[in-house]
Amino acid sequence: MKAIILSGGTGTRLRPLTYSGAKQLVPVANKPILFYCIDNIVQAGIQDVGIIISPETGQEIKDAVGDGSLWGIKIQYILQDIPGGLAHAIKTARNFLEDSSFIMYLGDNLIGTGINKFLDEFRTNSPEALILLKKVDNPKQFGVADVSKEGKVIRLIEKPDVPPSNLALVGIYIFSPKVHEAIDRIKPSKRGELEITDAIQELINMGCNVESFVLDAWWLDTGKKDDLLTANVIVLDEWLKANDIKGVIDDTTKILGRVAVGEGSVIKNSIIRGPVIIGKNTEVTNSFIGPYTSIGDNVKVTKSSIEHSVIMNDSELRDIERLEESLIGRRVRIIKNNTSHKALRLLVGDDSVVEV
Ligand code: G1P
Repeated sequence: MKAIILSGGTGTRLRPLTYSGAKQLVPVANKPILFYCIDNIVQAGIQDVGIIISPETGQEIKDAVGDGSLWGIKIQYILQDIPGGLAHAIKTARNFLEDSSFIMYLGDNLIGTGINKFLDEFRTNSPEALILLKKVDNPKQFGVADVSKEGKVIRLIEKPDVPPSNLALVGIYIFSPKVHEAIDRIKPSKRGELEITDAIQELINMGCNVESFVLDAWWLDTGKKDDLLTANVIVLDEWLKANDIKGVIDDTTKILGRVAVGEGSVIKNSIIRGPVIIGKNTEVTNSFIGPYTSIGDNVKVTKSSIEHSVIMNDSELRDIERLEESLIGRRVRIIKNNTSHKALRLLVGDDSVVEV
C-alpha cells in the first residue's frame, strides 16, 4: 500500500494567509495540518509516501516536511504543474504509484481518528475503491454519495444542487490500480478539472465494487477561518493532555489547566488559562492568554488579552485589550497607538478582514 497526499491548490477561502503560504501548512495547535495527515498515514504502517505539490507552494511544502526523516520514512515529491483536479493528480503520480493500491489523502483534511480501521476494511473486502463518508448538514458543498443499506455506493455527485443524501465525501480515499483505467475514461468537469468523484462514478459504471465507510469521529475541512478555529479548539481539547512546560515561567504568572510552553519562551506576570499552546522563543508579558489559543514561535505578547485564537510565528501584539476568535498570520504587528486621537492606522493585505 502506498499513499499520496495532495498539497497543491490555491486556498482561496483562507486568503490572505494563502497569498504567502500553502493552506496545508497553516497550523492547528502549532502543527501544520499536513503533518497530522502524515502522522495518520505513518501510524497505519505506510512507508511509501508521495506528496503532490504545485509550482506555487511546492518549495514551501518541501522545506517544511523535508525528506520524511521526521517520521522515519522516505517522502517523494511529485509536481502537478497545472491545477487539473484530484483525478489529474493521480494521473501525475502514475509512475510513483506503479500498480500498487494506494490511499489518497487531501492535505487540508483533519479527522479525529486514525485510518487503520478504514485500511483494514479495504484489505478485508478488496473493493476497487473505498470511500470515507461523513454525515454533514451542508452536503451541497461537497461530493455526495448515494449508498445502499449494505454500504455499496450507487451514485456519486460533486457539489449537487439536490443532494441524494447527507453523506459527504471526506477527502480520504483508497483505490486499487483499476482507478487509473477509470481516470483515462473521464472528461474534465464544468470547472475544467478531472474530478475524483467522476472517476469513482466511472468505476461504478464499469461494474466495479465501490464501498463506503462512514466516519463516526469528527472531520474538519480546514479551508476556512471558522473551520480552522474550530479545529484548533477540538485538537487542543482532545490532544493536549497534560502540562508540558519547557520555557521559563516567573513566580507572578498563573498557569491554569492544560498548557504547553516551548523551549526558550518566557512568561512573565501573566495568566495562562488552558488549553493553550505556546511555541518556542515567545515572550508573554503582563497578559492574559485564554482557553483554546495557539501562539506560535518568536511571538511577542505584551499587555494584551487573547482568547480562542491562533497567532502564527513572528507576530507581535501590544496593548490589545481583548482579541477573540482571530486568526493572525506570520510577521503581523497589532499595536494600540496610545495617542489621544482614536484613529486606526492600518497596513492590511488584500482579502483581510478587520472587525473593530
Ligand atoms: C474535494 C472533493 C469533494 C470532497 C472535498 C472534501 O472538494 O472534490 O468531493 O467532498 O474535497 O474536502 P474541493 O475541496 O476540491 O472543493
